[in-house]
Amino acid sequence: MKNSSNLNCNKKSWFGFVFCFILWFLLLCFVCSASFSGNNNNNRLTFIANYANSFIFQDSTSHSISENEENRVADSKDGVKQVENTTQLVSKHVLDSCSGRYIYVHDLPSRFNTDILKNCSSLIKWFDICKYISNMGLGPRAADFHGIFQNNISWFETNQFLLEVIFHNRMNNYKCLTNNSSLASIIYVPFYAGLDIGRYLWGFNTSIRDSAPIELAKWVSEKPEWKSMGGRDHFFVVGRVTWDFRRQTDNDSDWGNKLMSLPESKNMTILIIESFSQAETNRDFAIPYPTYFHPSSDDEVFQWQNKLRKLKRQYLFSFAGAPRPNNEHSIRSQIIKQCLDSGKKCKFLNCASGENKCDNPTYVIEIFQRSKFCLQPSGDSSTRRSTFDSILAGCIPVFFDSRSAYQQYIWHLPKNYSKYSVFIPEDEIKDGKVNIGETLSRISEEEVAEMREEIVKLIPRIIYANPMSRLETLEDAFDIAIEGVLERVEKIRKEMEGGKSTEF
Ligand SMILES: *[C@@H]1O[C@H](CO)[C@@H](O)[C@H](O)[C@H]1NC(C)=O
Ligand SMILES: *[C@@H]1O[C@H](CO)[C@@H](O)[C@H](O)[C@H]1NC(C)=O
Ligand SMILES: *[C@@H]1O[C@H](CO)[C@@H](O)[C@H](O)[C@H]1NC(C)=O
Ligand SMILES: *[C@@H]1O[C@H](CO)[C@@H](O)[C@H](O)[C@H]1NC(C)=O
Ligand SMILES: *[C@@H]1O[C@H](CO)[C@@H](O)[C@H](O)[C@H]1NC(C)=O
Ligand SMILES: *[C@@H]1O[C@H](CO)[C@@H](O)[C@H](O)[C@H]1NC(C)=O
Ligand SMILES: *[C@@H]1O[C@H](CO)[C@@H](O)[C@H](O)[C@H]1NC(C)=O
Ligand SMILES: *[C@@H]1O[C@H](CO)[C@@H](O)[C@H](O)[C@H]1NC(C)=O
Ligand SMILES: *[C@@H]1O[C@H](CO)[C@@H](O)[C@H](O)[C@H]1NC(C)=O
Repeated sequence: MKNSSNLNCNKKSWFGFVFCFILWFLLLCFVCSASFSGNNNNNRLTFIANYANSFIFQDSTSHSISENEENRVADSKDGVKQVENTTQLVSKHVLDSCSGRYIYVHDLPSRFNTDILKNCSSLIKWFDICKYISNMGLGPRAADFHGIFQNNISWFETNQFLLEVIFHNRMNNYKCLTNNSSLASIIYVPFYAGLDIGRYLWGFNTSIRDSAPIELAKWVSEKPEWKSMGGRDHFFVVGRVTWDFRRQTDNDSDWGNKLMSLPESKNMTILIIESFSQAETNRDFAIPYPTYFHPSSDDEVFQWQNKLRKLKRQYLFSFAGAPRPNNEHSIRSQIIKQCLDSGKKCKFLNCASGENKCDNPTYVIEIFQRSKFCLQPSGDSSTRRSTFDSILAGCIPVFFDSRSAYQQYIWHLPKNYSKYSVFIPEDEIKDGKVNIGETLSRISEEEVAEMREEIVKLIPRIIYANPMSRLETLEDAFDIAIEGVLERVEKIRKEMEGGKSTEF
């Protein structure tokens, strides 16, 4: 009797001990993850996060591209099995924070995405983008010739066309993935639409240009997931401007493909670097071009912001770009002339000259962080990647066309435009009515400082964090885009449930 009750008691206290130990271990994990800081931390947050994912969804790795990533998840999965029941409270908590935010990722045939990358040398007619595919689409690490970055681990030579790859990789590390589509609020279709059409824009007939979009539309609309909302909970991401996808006729001499006019695309939400027009009523929504900075922690962002606040800016304004001699509507030549005529007040980085420094993060960011204002005139189309490079460098953008930003990035840029940017109507430049240097000099030092502070505060919203890790509290361009799609689909869902039809 005695023995047996002793044993019983021992068993109980042993169990209690194990229970406490496990609880302590879990707590430690969370405390550790919260208190870690500094560099060298690519893996730390993903541990906790993937750890949570792996026991809620068991298999969140199916979309994973990196082998390391998969191994890490697999490892933590083993660890989780033993503590599953003691952590149910914790898991409930994590589960709740995802409620209403689950995303299901379609497992597309690789010909719609990763296979396209295999032939990377022929994706863009004018240059080879192969080297930019590295580091999950962020590109090679940027060399810091002049010591202008705070660290050399989070700056990359990122190419604007790789947004589709960056976004896909960010999604693979999204904390609320589900493999059960009936739990998902929205459905991501990882089609590399821009890289696909990039191959065929020059010298291919319309049937070749349209073939992948048509195949994709067929594939996705035949899936069971399509049925519940006719695809209106689906979305995809495009790293080229909308004009490449809006061909009106089947005449081979017309530009682009007809992705945007397929009935299936009309039901999906499209996130794109330049959209058709002011977006609320549209299906394509502009999201920021990728820049060079892809931080792995909040601290890196804070440090960069603090650095920018303290910088001395020697140039009143600057312009990085090339003239558009063949476009009679372009104001670029006037802008360049005004810059050159302004002497030391303006810095011109000529992107048309032989030694092109415009794709080099060091030169671009260095000039922008030495300038108070950065001119952002339209180029081949209304928007520019340079707008986001200038925000990243704390340089106040000067726009000449409302389609360059105000009508585009409605989720990412606040509506009080005049608090963080300057607007000079294009016509006034064309007519020679406005001297840019004089206009900008009239803005007081205090106003400039206030605008710069607004710009610096915008930085987290316009950068894409490193897909290999997660920011702790900050929301980046990816998070804000997802928020936007979730809200939009929720609205459509309510309307559909209420029997109202939505105008498209
Ligand atoms: C965990 O708890 C569930 C019920 O909540 C139970 O069915 C399951 O057997 C438990 N698993 C282990 C490993 O004890
Ligand atoms: C890769 O690109 C080359 C050159 O454009 C082309 O000839 C070849 O067919 C492409 N290969 C694939 C698999 O698409
Ligand atoms: C980054 O900096 C470290 C230490 O300063 C150096 O060892 C490393 O080579 C640098 N990496 C790159 C890509 O510049
Ligand atoms: C998916 O979720 C739905 C709704 O919760 C559930 O009824 C269904 O059983 C789940 N399917 C699988 C395979 O787990
Ligand atoms: C999700 O993954 C788990 C584990 O791999 C599996 O048991 C479950 O059936 C999957 N659900 C769906 C809907 O495929
Ligand atoms: C388009 O081009 C492909 C290959 O260049 C050719 O096989 C096809 O017949 C062409 N289609 C039309 C409609 O001209
Ligand atoms: C688009 O969605 C509507 C419902 O809103 C549906 O009736 C229509 O069939 C869908 N279109 C396609 C091509 O699935
Ligand atoms: C296609 O466009 C070209 C150039 O605009 C024009 O000359 C030609 O007649 C058009 N062909 C057809 C079939 O419309
Ligand atoms: C501009 O709007 C943003 C977002 O609505 C807000 O956070 C910010 O404080 C506003 N700035 C000023 C100077 O009013």
